[in-house]
Amino acid sequence: MVSGISISKQEIIELLALRGEEQAELHRKSSAARRDSVSDRIYIRGLVEFSNICVNDCCYCGIRSSNKTVKRYELTPDEILSCVDEAASAGLTSVVLQSGERSGSGFISYILKFIRLIKEKYPDMGITLSCGEQDRSVYKEFYDSGVTRYLLRIETSDEDHYKKLHPESMKFSKRIKALKDLKETGFQVGTGVMVNSPFQTPEILAEDILFFKEFDIDMCGMGPFIPHSSTPFADIGFSSENNFNTTLNMIAVLRLVMPFINIASTTALETLSPGGRESGLTAGANVIMPQFSPFSKRGDYGLYDNKFTGPEDSRSFIAALAERIQELGLIPAPQEPGTSIHYIRKAEDVSHS
Ligand code: 5AD
Repeated sequence: MVSGISISKQEIIELLALRGEEQAELHRKSSAARRDSVSDRIYIRGLVEFSNICVNDCCYCGIRSSNKTVKRYELTPDEILSCVDEAASAGLTSVVLQSGERSGSGFISYILKFIRLIKEKYPDMGITLSCGEQDRSVYKEFYDSGVTRYLLRIETSDEDHYKKLHPESMKFSKRIKALKDLKETGFQVGTGVMVNSPFQTPEILAEDILFFKEFDIDMCGMGPFIPHSSTPFADIGFSSENNFNTTLNMIAVLRLVMPFINIASTTALETLSPGGRESGLTAGANVIMPQFSPFSKRGDYGLYDNKFTGPEDSRSFIAALAERIQELGLIPAPQEPGTSIHYIRKAEDVSHS
């Protein structure tokens, strides 16, 4: 079995800048690395954005707490179950449940309630949760309720950069601690960064890749930074094309460095360019997460301007998506649980030592 390449910061910086034929060559290499490690199978997970209420005030994010223009919502457990019904009837066996960050016992028992409902009806449904930083004991409750994967983006691995993107109240050290708590609880842990966010340098992006390796993550989601009009970064200059291409190269380099992890091709790629998620797969991603939130609510989960919402009929969308995946020479695998092979291999290493 192949193992990841060793690479220096400088080499990563050079790879991230490739465009044209050299970029296509990089993506051919990362696709080959995917084939040799996790195979050509593409996992499809239904994404349910169950609440846009958030206590954090991140400078880049459209659902930041101080944005009073957002219509806030929280789906009821039954509404969430209906979304999961939709995903199941489209043939999916895995869902990602995501929300803004909140804490407190009310919020936690609400989450435990709908997880129980989902597990009662679909005992084998894979559940990924993403609802921010929580106490370690809360992570344990989530894990014990049947959640096996957790996503918490670090957003940037550089502490000074983190401070420029977040309010004083959000601490980089707390984010790292949360990621460690998740890992020690037993989750498959996913993290990620925005690509070309304000004040980010190519050097920081290279360090992000090395951080993922060092932390030994199981899954990764990275998307291009896209400004939101009701945030402090509304008027910051940005190149849609550059952010798009740098994101694709981040995916490709990460696939070469960590061949066995799950890498998502994100909605933000699709937002910048129709078919952008397919480009992410061509660059080496192996997971795609189409929306299954109620159609009427999708516009309210506005992390950035013009966020792609997908069509209302998620079921026919899945069928069309599966066809497009096949056209790329890849294998749609909605029926597979999609456990991170990196995570499985780590567990095997421990049991053999
Ligand atoms: N552009 C791109 N991605 C964003 N996110 C939040 N705001 C933006 C933005 N303006 C991403 C963050 C967060 C995830 C849910 O969405 O990385 O973790």
